[in-house]
Amino acid sequence: MMWSLWRCSSMTGSSAFTNVRVFKCFRQFVKNYNISARMPEAIAFQGVSDHSGLHKFSVNESETFWGALASQRLSWISPFNTVQNCNFSQGKIKWFEGGKLNVSVNCLDRHVHTCPERVALIWERDEPGTEVKFTYRELLELTCRLGNLLKRLGVRRGDCVTLYMPSCPLAVASMLACARIGAVHNVVFAGFSAEALADRIRDTQSSTVITVNQGVRGGKVIDLKRTVDQAVQNCPSVQQVLVAMRTENSVAMTDRDVPLEEEMMKEDVVCEPVTMDSEDVLFLLYTSGSTGKPKGLVHTQAGYLLYAAVTHRYVFSYQDGDVFGCMADIGWITGHSYGVYGPLCNGGTTVLFESTPVYPDPGRYWETVQRLGISQFYGAPTAIRLLLKYGDEWVQKYDRSCLKTLGSVGEPINREAWEWYHRVVGGGRCPVIDTWWQTETGGICIAPRPSDPDAEIIPGMAMRPFYGIKPALLDAKGEVLHAHDSTGALCISMAWPGMARTIHNDHQRFIETYFQPYPGYFFTGDGAYCSKEGYYQIVGRLDDVINVSGHRLGTAELEDVVVCTIKCVYVFVVLKKGVEVQEDVLAQQLREMVSRNIAKYASPDYIQVVGRLPKTRSGKIMRRVLRKVVERKTDDLGDLSTLDDSEATIILFP
Ligand code: PRX
Repeated sequence: MMWSLWRCSSMTGSSAFTNVRVFKCFRQFVKNYNISARMPEAIAFQGVSDHSGLHKFSVNESETFWGALASQRLSWISPFNTVQNCNFSQGKIKWFEGGKLNVSVNCLDRHVHTCPERVALIWERDEPGTEVKFTYRELLELTCRLGNLLKRLGVRRGDCVTLYMPSCPLAVASMLACARIGAVHNVVFAGFSAEALADRIRDTQSSTVITVNQGVRGGKVIDLKRTVDQAVQNCPSVQQVLVAMRTENSVAMTDRDVPLEEEMMKEDVVCEPVTMDSEDVLFLLYTSGSTGKPKGLVHTQAGYLLYAAVTHRYVFSYQDGDVFGCMADIGWITGHSYGVYGPLCNGGTTVLFESTPVYPDPGRYWETVQRLGISQFYGAPTAIRLLLKYGDEWVQKYDRSCLKTLGSVGEPINREAWEWYHRVVGGGRCPVIDTWWQTETGGICIAPRPSDPDAEIIPGMAMRPFYGIKPALLDAKGEVLHAHDSTGALCISMAWPGMARTIHNDHQRFIETYFQPYPGYFFTGDGAYCSKEGYYQIVGRLDDVINVSGHRLGTAELEDVVVCTIKCVYVFVVLKKGVEVQEDVLAQQLREMVSRNIAKYASPDYIQVVGRLPKTRSGKIMRRVLRKVVERKTDDLGDLSTLDDSEATIILFP
């Protein structure tokens, strides 16, 4: 009720009064910002426009390349003095220093100035056919009201606000409202448990949390506010929880809780944007690492925004008028860069998908594509693999002629899924773009077609580095593998604007994780193969991080949870001597513990009790051996020379 209420008032509230005020505000922006810099449709530097020529230029003349793009594509309050100031050994990454801008102005105001009625967001709600559209003007109004509300509640420049919300316009407006007033946002995926949420709130010392009463997903109602209530019990920093009403069901409100829509509607639709430095923090986003504690990666204003916008436009060939359908939740980096910042910075129309690929049936994605006219569909291999099992009819029922590009992200896309995506979903007409990147990289780093629409695409390969990205493969000794047709640790040898700047509260860990393993390089944690032609294929993680349904999960994080009562490790459990326990009871207990302490999606599917684990002589568990055992590839265990006792592996086989 409340939800639709503010939605209606936001639509009808576009009175002449509001428009005049908003318009006056824009006139001011025209003066303050260089918004005359229109985006040219093609990148061409000094007459070079083919991919390899441009790529060479972008890495050889990196300063010219990024400097020109930054001045063209972003609206600055005052120009930057230097393009980059980076030193990998110190973990120092700085771009566009001296420049001043406001990210929300870049994502909203400048488009309101040129095309106020263009649709910015299509909120594809859980029930098919109930989508709600927001124009740039409406989204700016919403953002300004929220910005004013946050200010009234005492949120100041540099404060961190934690969001625990599903993908919805209020979540986007909350992110942009933070950007508008100079606050830092920290979106926590709304599937995470109270414990995981509390950890992240504590690490950021947030005084403000924004949530919704309930989420709705796959026809199920999820009590998100209740999870927040549990979490904040153990978070003394939290002074207020803003609660939006996604459903009509009331929730218990405490003194700390603020009814979001009600309070927001009291606020003005104009909120002066704060002048931010290029290197001020825009957001934190937590991701699993190879040790127990998740890392709060820090992204800053100008470099991140520029990189998200440029990759969005070129990797997907996004053009004005296209409808960009990123299926990822805003709680992940994909949702940040390609659900929110990239498309909005480009003045695009972006879809916020609230549902699941199989609700109400396995045709959901393609029915949505038809109804919303999606031109670029960006999804995860795990969903594609799931859908292909249901058969082609679910796809063919719907008209997909609006589709131009099919993107894939999060994990390797196997050949069968790639072919099906290409042949059935795209009708053999749309390029399948496998995009490799990470929370740390801010945006796509390797993708088949950054510019040339006729470039060859090889199934299952991310292939070509994006502009300004210079990958290198290194061997175990830290030597660069110069020859193509080799496999090694995937590193990147020069800085790019979208890369994370540090780990919140732990710069030393940032240096140790990314810059010390291979001095002079940024280490991605992934292994990759480079073909004879110089195309890259991602092999998988080299560290103790695993990929569950396209989401990164640290094995140490899981172990931290399960190890606290019973001595065991992830799916392989080693019982204490003399302990006897029924395996199904143990499995049930472990699953419940992981769901409660991390998230339901992290709950192990497979738990096996074993006598011992394969370890190196120095005592490190050889997870790659365990992986092979799980995959039943025991004839391909690789190099076992460091194993302390090869008998151990035999014990593992059932
Ligand atoms: O292992 C790689 C895998 O996902 C990791 C990054 O996870 P996260 O930070 O959660 O970001 C996911 C979305 C960008 C990488 O280190 N990964 C991501 N994309 C691909 C991939 N593995 C293979 N192919 C990809 N296209």
